[in-house]
Amino acid sequence: MPSVSNRLRITRPDDWHLHLRDGDALAHTVAWSAAQFARAVVMPNLKPAVVDTEQALQYRQRVLAARPRGSDFQPLMTLYLTDRTPASEISRARASGAVFGVKLYPAGATTNSDSGVTDLRHVRPVLEAMQREDMPLLVHGEVTDPEVDVFDREAVFIDRVLQPLRRDFPALRIVLEHITTADAVDYVLSCPQRSARGTPLLGATITAHHLLYSRNAMFRGGLRPHYYCLPVLKRERHRARLLQAACSADGRFFLGTDSAPHARAAKESDCGCAGCLTALHALELYASAFEQAGCLHCLEGFASHFGADFYGLPRNQGHVELLRQPWVVPARLEYPDGGIVPLDAGASLAWRVDPGAGLSQQA
Ligand code: NCD
Ligand code: ZN
Repeated sequence: MPSVSNRLRITRPDDWHLHLRDGDALAHTVAWSAAQFARAVVMPNLKPAVVDTEQALQYRQRVLAARPRGSDFQPLMTLYLTDRTPASEISRARASGAVFGVKLYPAGATTNSDSGVTDLRHVRPVLEAMQREDMPLLVHGEVTDPEVDVFDREAVFIDRVLQPLRRDFPALRIVLEHITTADAVDYVLSCPQRSARGTPLLGATITAHHLLYSRNAMFRGGLRPHYYCLPVLKRERHRARLLQAACSADGRFFLGTDSAPHARAAKESDCGCAGCLTALHALELYASAFEQAGCLHCLEGFASHFGADFYGLPRNQGHVELLRQPWVVPARLEYPDGGIVPLDAGASLAWRVDPGAGLSQQA
């Protein structure tokens, strides 16, 4: 039964998968996320990519400098794994205290992934070091084989890459990022292994757009570039299974927006970029999805508890409040290179984060 309450107060949430970009974009992207989240795992797919600890620390400083006045938003940095990453980088990353994961992009899988890994055999020493140091591997789980249908790339990745990887590195902590299929949900559920600390070894983030939309959204009355992301939206049965997983209060599934901003012209183009902008209204979108499933009471665990538990970080102290207060998502927002279009631009959303309430640890 849908909740009839008009207010929802939850522990301040975190975003466990976010693209903030760099340069002039940071003033916008950091403000959007800081208005909703206490912490975010920041993806390293800049151009050039963030491949070592030194670069991650410098990028972190640029993010911190872009925070709105008074914000205590914390960026949790990641490194971009390449064929040439030295194993010694992992202890440097760990010692920095600022790097929380290493991102695996199969070369060519998505935006700015050309310097990604071409074959996991090249990075075995790095994976061994990560397993030893308990540094999580964050995985873009799609094969890049052009013979494989784009809608099957996640399921094939699980069979061809993830299963052997977990067999070879059984104690490596892995997050399967932005899962999009029932196959991925089933795979995560089939792996109950826990670390010595008792936390799951395999987890998965789920985006708001994959909870709200099936692939039909990309073709509603015409081609809708703002619903195009990678991994691409899938069939309705997959969306339903993801929503069920997100609402299951299983600590292995947690929030990762994969908000991936691209200027309007880069999306509305003859070769449009993949990525949906959801950071602006992430919690509102997730609340819509959870309410649809009659599970608003499960939002807090998914958004505010399970990710922190997985990463072995403390849960946040403060709270945010969502109000049932319909509002219309802006058609366009200010952004470098001519503005940007958020997901669901022009649509009405039922929930709104109370901007006045509690965006600090003290609240
Ligand atoms: C991301 C981007 O634009 O950086 N795009 C996307 O569609 N999600 C890259 C990614 O996470 O795959
Ligand atoms: Zn991403």
